[in-house]
Amino acid sequence: MFTTALTQREKTPLDLFAAIANLKKELNAVILAHYYQEPDIQDIADFIGDSLQLARTAANTNADVIVFAGVHFMAETAKILNPDKLVLLPDLNAGCSLADTCPPQEFAAFKASYPDHLVVSYINCSAEVKAMSDIICTSSNAVKIIQQIPEEQPIIFAPDKNLGRYVMEQTGRKMVLWQGSCIVHETFSEKKLVQLQIHHPQAEIIAHPECEESILRHADYIGSTAALLKYCQQSHSSTFIVATEPGIIHQMQKAAAGKQFIPAPPTNNCNCNECPFMRLNTLEKLYLSMKNCAPEIQMDEEIRVAALRPIQRMLEMSV
Ligand code: 13P
Ligand code: SF4
Repeated sequence: MFTTALTQREKTPLDLFAAIANLKKELNAVILAHYYQEPDIQDIADFIGDSLQLARTAANTNADVIVFAGVHFMAETAKILNPDKLVLLPDLNAGCSLADTCPPQEFAAFKASYPDHLVVSYINCSAEVKAMSDIICTSSNAVKIIQQIPEEQPIIFAPDKNLGRYVMEQTGRKMVLWQGSCIVHETFSEKKLVQLQIHHPQAEIIAHPECEESILRHADYIGSTAALLKYCQQSHSSTFIVATEPGIIHQMQKAAAGKQFIPAPPTNNCNCNECPFMRLNTLEKLYLSMKNCAPEIQMDEEIRVAALRPIQRMLEMSV
């Protein structure tokens, strides 16, 4: 719980920007933000990226303090890579529905029933699950990593069944899939997507591989958030229907001004396509986390060391 009350002056976004810039200098801090963060946070960040780019940046930073504007597993990854640095997460409750579908104890039992399998885990999982894995991957390197594993080696892929199925299709490899999924990427409605496409016949549909097959089969392009951003800059199309968390549209609009980006519609009339965990971080909480040097990510050293090994393997296999 934060105890520092904001003054009226500090409440204005402009002053928060200035106050955060000052604290950044004072702390020798770097602010890393995922594309799903609210626009103000993206605008104050030193680096904005997808999960892989953020892990790489965290691995190479010279800053003393890493302020992670993303969700818990991302900040945890930064801490695993930087045990001596202070890693701040503006709201410690910023978890991940996908990581939550894979409780460590149940995963340990699952893994034990496939003793000869190599475990490849999507970075969207807890440090405990990473510690039980052989290689970590993200949505931007999963296909590349699986392709480097010898054909005869059986594989468990966890925790995202949708990314796992997509990787199986792309590589022709059969894998044992943990049946996890993300509430945000499973919210899109195929029926509404098709209706939207009828109204925008020239639009290209671009989708994240965490989406269900019923959505991916309509996609003109499938990729990680960074890949989707790059694709819409390079494509000759002027309209895109975007099937991932709409936070990415802020960077799309900046990078491809003049093009139109339409969020893919959720099944219900709700904002369920916005990640409720990512959106727990606000500019105010980011400021307070830097002012109070809390909340910080802490972790058991044995788990950290075990979780570091598969992350390093990922970084080596995806250069
Ligand atoms: P990427 O950052 O790999 O695109 O994954 C998106 C996501 O769901 C992060 O939680
Ligand atoms: Fe987790 Fe889904 Fe949110 Fe990404 S969008 S952080 S996978 S709940």
